[in-house]
Amino acid sequence: MNNPLDDLSVNPFEIASQAAEVIRQKTSVESHEIALTLGSGWAKAADLIGETVATIPATEIPGFSKPALAGHIGNIRSIKLPNGKHALVLGARTHFYEGHGVRRVVHGVRTAAAAGAKTMILTNGAGGIKDTWKPGTPVLISDHINLTSASPLEGATFIDLTDLYSAKLREIAKTVDATLDEGVYCQFRGPQYETPAEVQMAKIIGGHIVGMSTALEAIAARQSGLEILGLSLITNLAAGIQKTPLSHQEVIEAGVAAEARISKLLAEIVSKL
Ligand code: HPA
Repeated sequence: MNNPLDDLSVNPFEIASQAAEVIRQKTSVESHEIALTLGSGWAKAADLIGETVATIPATEIPGFSKPALAGHIGNIRSIKLPNGKHALVLGARTHFYEGHGVRRVVHGVRTAAAAGAKTMILTNGAGGIKDTWKPGTPVLISDHINLTSASPLEGATFIDLTDLYSAKLREIAKTVDATLDEGVYCQFRGPQYETPAEVQMAKIIGGHIVGMSTALEAIAARQSGLEILGLSLITNLAAGIQKTPLSHQEVIEAGVAAEARISKLLAEIVSKL
């Protein structure tokens, strides 16, 4: 099936509105106030934050693509939180490295905004540059460096990215776990992991976390007026800092090992929002 976002003459916000309308119809939920993208290691949070009202295969919603990766669930879930609000869990992240363009990468975020979201929680599995972090450490994203040379913004759309990752939301997260550390996330294009030299570059320019998602989504979330909380699970130390070669298998295993613990943490954070 063709993705309507691939037609560049189409307004991507129009497709996001259509997607939100389909979500409204299929869930019978008028507004989803919070949205979450659950990356490697974070998926179980969906089971803990509340009661699932509906699960929709992403392919039934305009603009969404099949996930390229095993371990990434291809559906969208509507969850009723204990406080009566509704959360939209986007289990179908499209990565920039898939090569389908930035519009598809940020479509989930734009759909969440069109579905009523005011808060966007972006999570991922990533490599750690600080050598005090061990695999399995969750870290709050304090800022990012976008190394993809791409942007979801089209045309002369000059938006401010100060406090992109909300200081207020980070403080709320720290009331749940005061030991949570913070770091600057560097988004590389991938899909190859970084070279040790690239990791050193990221460190020198102020990065602490390396990954292949999130920054482009955060820019789109800001454009749509969402308040953003970003969380990385450190699945490995970044190339060259860790002395052994990196593998996708290792990343998956670190995610599985940490999943119960960090999902509970995330669910507790959501309960405070
Ligand atoms: N680099 C980039 N992306 C990642 C890594 C990494 O070291 N670990 C998990 N995702």
